[in-house]
Amino acid sequence: MTSVLTRPDLIPERAPTRRHYVMCPPTHFAVEYAINPWMHPGTPVDRDLAVAQWDTLRRTYLALGHEVTVVDPVAGLPDMVFAANGATVVGGRVFGARFRYAERAPEAEAYRAALPLPYTEPRFVNEGEGDLLVAGDVILAGTGFRTEPAAHAEAARVLRRPVIGLELVDPRYYHLDTALAVLSDREIAYLPEAFSARSRGILAGRYPDALVASPVDAAVLGLNAVSDGRHVVLPAAATGLAASLRDRGYDPIGVDLSELLKGGGGPKCCTLEVRT
Ligand code: ARG
Repeated sequence: MTSVLTRPDLIPERAPTRRHYVMCPPTHFAVEYAINPWMHPGTPVDRDLAVAQWDTLRRTYLALGHEVTVVDPVAGLPDMVFAANGATVVGGRVFGARFRYAERAPEAEAYRAALPLPYTEPRFVNEGEGDLLVAGDVILAGTGFRTEPAAHAEAARVLRRPVIGLELVDPRYYHLDTALAVLSDREIAYLPEAFSARSRGILAGRYPDALVASPVDAAVLGLNAVSDGRHVVLPAAATGLAASLRDRGYDPIGVDLSELLKGGGGPKCCTLEVRT
């Protein structure tokens, strides 16, 4: 069988769309507590380097033509740089976050204040776009470590989209956006090993042509990627994943966020999309 790899004319032409992102600089970033296996309190963090790496990510989005709104960082909230967890915004409506751990709880209010749109306060724990990924007309929703299953139904009601629940089973991949990347409305990349058998079945059924990532690429948080439909911003170390993306007609753009990886986050964690 001839594959797209040997038939360049079969590689689809990918069309990017302009996005609006919210980001928060790691001015107060530190590893002061451990709420995921990547975090080792006491690990020295080079904050200037963290800010410089973050700024490269911001400039990458601007160079791609996207809009970036920068939110003021709050002292005492070292994880606030991970903007994806601050809310989920779909159709101009904000579904607020409710964090699992007390250390991050005040971030919900900070992001609420930064998003001047109709807001719904959540009843159940949900960590925003860390676990609620918009994929075309549906929302893929993670649970297992942070977001509660009851939050999935709540998200469906507030955001008016069908929600497909997925169970994460590996603590290294504690948010859905560490184990699965939405590449386009119909295409995803994911690490099957990060999901329960049942959820793997759901993903295989819904996305038979998904890009299956290798454990090596996932282990550098390669799946913590941001796609505009064509350009995929991902950790530079995920070289295998970048090659697979190129084979499918995407433009992978590697960024180095090594300082933020000490908090268990990558490019997608630093990025909250505003969908109007
Ligand atoms: N230290 C943060 C936490 O464990 C990292 C959050 C990463 N964000 C993400 N969207 N995966 O909560």
